[in-house]
Amino acid sequence: MDQQTQSATQFGANAANYLSSPVHASGADLTRLAALAGQSRSLDLGCGAGHASFALARGGAREVIAYDPSAEMLAVVAREAAARGSSCIVTRQGAAESLPFEDRSFDLIATRFSAHHWVSVPRALAECARVLRPGGRLVVIDVVAPETPLLDTALQVIEFLRDASHVRDYRCTEWAGMLRAAGFAVAAESGWKLPMDFPSWIARIGTPPARVDALRAVFAALPSEATDYFAVDAGFSFAIDAASFECQAPPAARPANGAPGVAPKGAPGSAPGDANKAAPGDAPKGARGDATTGARRDTHGDAPAEAPGDAPKGAPGDARGGARKP
Ligand SMILES: C[S@@+](CC[C@H](N)C(=O)[O-])C[C@H]1O[C@@H](n2cnc3c(N)ncnc32)[C@H](O)[C@@H]1O
Repeated sequence: MDQQTQSATQFGANAANYLSSPVHASGADLTRLAALAGQSRSLDLGCGAGHASFALARGGAREVIAYDPSAEMLAVVAREAAARGSSCIVTRQGAAESLPFEDRSFDLIATRFSAHHWVSVPRALAECARVLRPGGRLVVIDVVAPETPLLDTALQVIEFLRDASHVRDYRCTEWAGMLRAAGFAVAAESGWKLPMDFPSWIARIGTPPARVDALRAVFAALPSEATDYFAVDAGFSFAIDAASFECQAPPAARPANGAPGVAPKGAPGSAPGDANKAAPGDAPKGARGDATTGARRDTHGDAPAEAPGDAPKGAPGDARGGARKP
């Protein structure tokens, strides 16, 4: 079975768990999404059971497309949206790497706790750059890996054992490089710890018993640097890093003759002109710099958080928070 089928199958079988999961149903990041919604036409990539979509609708978005490869997830979203009276939410099936939407047709794209399942983040970001209006906003929220190789490897092993369709929890520096390569400027970045209760973490996605045993064996064998960092307790509950990147698509470029371009249809506040073409390609360019998980770092209206050519702070393998506890 290929990765996408594997992912859709397991999320499909466990879709209802994601509606009730406290990890997914709550968080200051949802409050922030609601505050950013405005009267946007928004896209929620990898919507799962729809918590980001519900936040955008609550915030006043005029239309929210809840988008996910899993038909069962979309059915949960449609049912819950109807129960909440959120008539602005519509569902659409598909993967982030190929968006069935017109160029420059969204004001805001949000993705929350989904990108670590995508087979190609660069391809998905190129698609985001294409369908966002010039100057539109992209908010990426996901679990992130520490910058330290030992901790990064431990996290990916644990994630993969829990969910065999896991692709990668990227480091913040990798996100910065991929976003920059796709043409996005990171205006604000923040990080926080997400506590994971071991029994509900494995039950939510239906990890088979043999892999639960393997997870217990791996947790028990982790070096102290990893158990300290992830705050692993006696029952193997632990805490992981999450991060949010609020990004802006490039503003419209003026045509060579200096005449204003054509505004995209129905895009409030949209700037004219032609821009937004992301450089495709699968390798993050120049992904390096400073890890920021755990400490809010806002650069609203400022230069991108990771300026090209930024020197990494700390030697490779160094992480601020290499010994941080939640
Ligand atoms: C943990 S759930 C998302 C949670 C949800 N966004 C929320 O805020 O509660 C992860 C979702 O990513 C979806 N997914 C997996 N691969 C994907 C892809 N290539 N493109 C878009 N979504 C994908 C899965 O189907 C699943 O519904």
